[in-house]
Amino acid sequence: MDEFSLLRFAHMLGLTLMGAGLIGVFTCDMRSRQTKDLKLFSQLVTLIAVFYDGVVVPGALLLLASGTWLIVQYYDGWAFLEIPWLVGMVGLFLFEFIEGNTITRLFFMRLRRLTRDAMEKGDWTDELTCSNSDLI
Ligand code: HEM
Repeated sequence: MDEFSLLRFAHMLGLTLMGAGLIGVFTCDMRSRQTKDLKLFSQLVTLIAVFYDGVVVPGALLLLASGTWLIVQYYDGWAFLEIPWLVGMVGLFLFEFIEGNTITRLFFMRLRRLTRDAMEKGDWTDELTCSNSDLI
């Protein structure tokens, strides 16, 4: 397999990982909002972190690395700015990457901390039950 095909393969692998991980995060998040069982809630919050840090982030990094490599090698570096679909893809990626690593990550990190506190106390805490409205 030549370098170009390998890079495209890595790009598609990154896309698959990111998509699969986001489905995992979404499913666990939805389920966690439906349960009144703190233990199950805590397991789901842990699973969200596993999907996010273990699948989504590596996928996004693979997309970024392979995409940058493709641009440098086969799209003449900054000349990609003249190709609208590439500018759109890179722009949307950067927006999502920054948003995902700030707002979304802060939300889930706080949720995990509050869940750990509740698990130590053995019951739902006020902070956790009101958490949907003032988590950020
Ligand atoms: C969420 C983020 C992204 C998604 C969903 C995505 C998706 C895709 C898809 C579906 C293709 C077509 C693949 C093909 O024809 O084989 C593609 C191609 C490409 N992507 Fe991305 N991409 C993303 C991020 C990026 C980033 C961040 C870069 C660069 C920094 C990038 C650079 C490229 C390049 C150069 C190609 C052309 C490859 C070719 O000539 O076949 N992509 N991308």
